[in-house]
Amino acid sequence: MSTSVVGIIGSGNIGKDVGQLATAAGLPVVIANSRGPEALGELVAEWGDTASADTVVGAIERADIVVLALPFGAYEALPKVSLSGKVIVDATNYYPDRDGMIAELAEGATTSTEFLSGQWPGARVVKGLNNVDFIRLPQLARPAGSPERTALPVAGDDAEAKAQVVAFLDAIGFDTLDLGGLAEGRRSQPDTPIYVTPYFRPAEPPAEDPMQAFVTALPVPVPLAQARELAAATGA
Ligand SMILES: NC(=O)c1ccc[n+]([C@@H]2O[C@H](COP(=O)([O-])OP(=O)(O)OC[C@H]3O[C@@H](n4cnc5c(N)ncnc54)[C@H](OP(=O)(O)O)[C@@H]3O)[C@@H](O)[C@H]2O)c1
Repeated sequence: MSTSVVGIIGSGNIGKDVGQLATAAGLPVVIANSRGPEALGELVAEWGDTASADTVVGAIERADIVVLALPFGAYEALPKVSLSGKVIVDATNYYPDRDGMIAELAEGATTSTEFLSGQWPGARVVKGLNNVDFIRLPQLARPAGSPERTALPVAGDDAEAKAQVVAFLDAIGFDTLDLGGLAEGRRSQPDTPIYVTPYFRPAEPPAEDPMQAFVTALPVPVPLAQARELAAATGA
């Protein structure tokens, strides 16, 4: 794991979190956004010598693991050829209002990560890092063996790719719950019991403004046994 290059597509809330966590874990990071590497100079300077910025194609090509941290609806802009053969962590979520209507997703005929996998022949797509909000994600990272370590769900059909993602998540501070194949990623999509809400509780006293209440809420670790129960609650 120590030499794996982490490519991050998207430098917003989640992309920044993942870059920060990976850099802190000593992993080389290359990050891209829609505006080009010039827009990322300050961010990668903060992260130090192991971090750099590139174009989307450049970041994907240099990476061993690619984290998708951009709106789901931007998938069509990503370069299919470069993604082929890559291990990809799909941290995106499908929200029709933001991402546009895709009937098979809106109707639940497939999952969002299966849909993406179907767009990119040869890509080794694993669902992960999609179900914790960007404020709690860095707050919940813990060293291996910590009793307060949170387990994050992963799902994927490619066992070897999934093992690489499990090792990556371990390196940045998380245990994992293997949900099974990509189709089982339905258990960690929006509005499921393991999506976002178990990972925080209101501060005391809670802020009146809903956004401030969200920001100031306290992180709640979700260890493996609890993650398993939450994922199982989605049902067959
Ligand atoms: N926010 C959360 O708490 C959270 C938690 C888990 C998962 N997620 C999921 O993670 C994804 C990103 O969420 P976010 O909150 O980080 O979004 P965000 O803050 O809006 O950041 C989105 C990033 O994607 C980049 N981007 C958009 N289109 C692109 C393209 N065609 N090529 C390259 N980069 C592109 C943007 O580039 P520019 O900077 O150049 O505009 C921006 O850096 C979403 O699918 C979301 O559902 C979010």
